[in-house]
Amino acid sequence: MNTVFVHASRSYEVKIGCGLLKTLGQELRKIAGGKVLIVTDENVAPLYLSEAYHSLQGAGFSVSTTSLPAGEGSKDIKYYVNLLNLLCEKNFTRSDTLIALGGGVVGDLTGFVAASYLRGIRFVQIPTTLLAMVDSSIGGKTAVNLKSGKNQVGAFHQPALVLCDIDLLSSLPPREFLCGCAEVIKTAILFDRRVFAHLQANGTDFDRTYVITRCIECKRDVVCEDEFDTGRRQLLNLGHTVAHAIEKLTDYIIPHGEAVAIGCAIFARAFASDAEQIEQLFSQFSLPLTTEFSAPTLANAALSDKKRLGDSITLVVPHCVGNCSLRTYSVEELEDIIKAGL
Ligand code: GLY
Repeated sequence: MNTVFVHASRSYEVKIGCGLLKTLGQELRKIAGGKVLIVTDENVAPLYLSEAYHSLQGAGFSVSTTSLPAGEGSKDIKYYVNLLNLLCEKNFTRSDTLIALGGGVVGDLTGFVAASYLRGIRFVQIPTTLLAMVDSSIGGKTAVNLKSGKNQVGAFHQPALVLCDIDLLSSLPPREFLCGCAEVIKTAILFDRRVFAHLQANGTDFDRTYVITRCIECKRDVVCEDEFDTGRRQLLNLGHTVAHAIEKLTDYIIPHGEAVAIGCAIFARAFASDAEQIEQLFSQFSLPLTTEFSAPTLANAALSDKKRLGDSITLVVPHCVGNCSLRTYSVEELEDIIKAGL
């Protein structure tokens, strides 16, 4: 098992290894007592809720559970309010803990509830998808979506503990696993040529503990330097300007990871000296590289994204694997950049 220490506005441990779900109760006992509410979804509940429940109960916690419909539709104000009301009904106080057992949707929603209920209570992330392990469960971004776009309302609220149990990945549908690989490849392009080479050499048989730990360490370093996303953390948005546009234009039918792969590939073709290698690696993981949307359509959708600052937009420019930088462009330039990479 590996442990990554995060020292942000809250310090916490991220544990990565096999068999961690059954240690949840004893790990939480080191930092909390009282009541816990496990928030999960209807795909994850039949697989892992019982183990989480019994681990917590065995460690002396008073445990309640709630399950949401699976999918992006649950990252909605309606479910946010329902969860707040549930916490009120159960008389949760600041000594109690929310547990997010699921992928990014469950983690982001539960985190936002934890950030705002009583002005902030403790929460723990148990990511059950690769994407959530390497990205959304780390760094304290929490949110729900509005009709106008993804993550339009939220807060920064760091978890108190993150347990990445590698065993949980075995139940992921192949397409969802590959979507997580898109964020892994994104992290390798940004920060780690060795991980990139390891992925080239091993494909989907990559060493789970090594790669996930490295992705978490890379993200940890960025988050600790720029927790509130005013500078360097924006590097993590590589490919995301176009990705969010594609997700919005397809009403989230194209999953986030696939949209990120397309977004990274477009920006690689527009900027990177080793675009071919980047494209090849995404292809090796059966991830898409192109979209049928035109440059003006993508640019228009992207410009309603919250990353826009007045008449300019900050983009992540991949120069080559391991070397990316933030550059500010006028909104008019975005369409030409996308056109160059389509
Ligand atoms: N997912 C990007 C970030 O946490 O900043």
